[in-house]
Amino acid sequence: MVDLSGRVAIVTGGASGIGRSAAQQLARAGAAVAVADINGEGAEEVARGIQAAGGDALAVTTDVAQPPQIESMVERVVSHFGALHILCNNAADLSLLERDRDLLQTDIETWNKTWEADLRSVMVASKHALPHMLAAGGGAIVNVSSVDGASGDNTRFAYATAKAGINVLTQCMAVAYGKSGIRCNAILPGLVLSPAATDTLEAHPAIREIFLENVLTPHLGTPEEIASVIVFLASDAASYVNGQLIRVDGGLLSHVPHLAQHEKYFATLATSAEAPGDGATSA
Ligand SMILES: NC(=O)c1ccc[n+]([C@@H]2O[C@H](COP(=O)([O-])OP(=O)(O)OC[C@H]3O[C@@H](n4cnc5c(N)ncnc54)[C@H](O)[C@@H]3O)[C@@H](O)[C@H]2O)c1
Repeated sequence: MVDLSGRVAIVTGGASGIGRSAAQQLARAGAAVAVADINGEGAEEVARGIQAAGGDALAVTTDVAQPPQIESMVERVVSHFGALHILCNNAADLSLLERDRDLLQTDIETWNKTWEADLRSVMVASKHALPHMLAAGGGAIVNVSSVDGASGDNTRFAYATAKAGINVLTQCMAVAYGKSGIRCNAILPGLVLSPAATDTLEAHPAIREIFLENVLTPHLGTPEEIASVIVFLASDAASYVNGQLIRVDGGLLSHVPHLAQHEKYFATLATSAEAPGDGATSA
């Protein structure tokens, strides 16, 4: 059982999905948690839920695309809780994905805003959190990246490159501060059934089937399944884990790319082999 008693954590994007579940699980493990989100009401609701369950939480309305707001977030948390040990850089502005479909159509503003909210925010939050972690004698940064930052697709160019940037930034921070007791790791989720993803799946039910065909689990991932890995990486249970990019994707990127097509092809052969009069079934 992970024990985070006495630790203080910030979770950005903590009002919904993966961040919400991470805030709740960190609090259940004993950490005092700052729920930071551009959606202040949502952050308040999550913080109230944690308090109602007996945990310690603070909501901090923060737009991570605005560096001064990130600086204020860190200062507010440290002045409220007295220290900072864990930073989970989870927020991303997924509303920009609509405008990030095709490279030829992607405008410079979309590219810049995506990088500001999804990548620069990770650098800025870490820059302001690290001095407090170093003062506390150590800490853990857990960045929420994506499998999109580790493989090519024909869409989401700005998002995918921002996530790829997080991956290298994670490793650079592990190199620079590991000897000082700071561990920095990234999680690369595959499709996760957070509100952002379930909206898409409701609009395009076929996408659910495509992903189910391509993960190596009987189900699609949930925010809780990502959050449990965030808690592990934030805790002393992961004391020898540093600079790692950990895919939590149900095995999505672990198989040959033509797996689903192969299975369909061999299923077709099996069906035709069972057809009446087929030599293969008439032994
Ligand atoms: N759900 C997936 O399938 C999936 C897959 C791979 C990676 N991810 C990553 O997981 C993370 C969380 O996504 P989710 O699926 O839980 O989405 P979500 O929409 O449920 O939660 C995202 C949260 O971030 C907040 N947010 C958005 N812009 C912000 C800003 N500028 N400042 C502060 N907060 C902001 C939103 O208000 C929301 O509460 C993101 O980094 C996303 O890229 C998600």
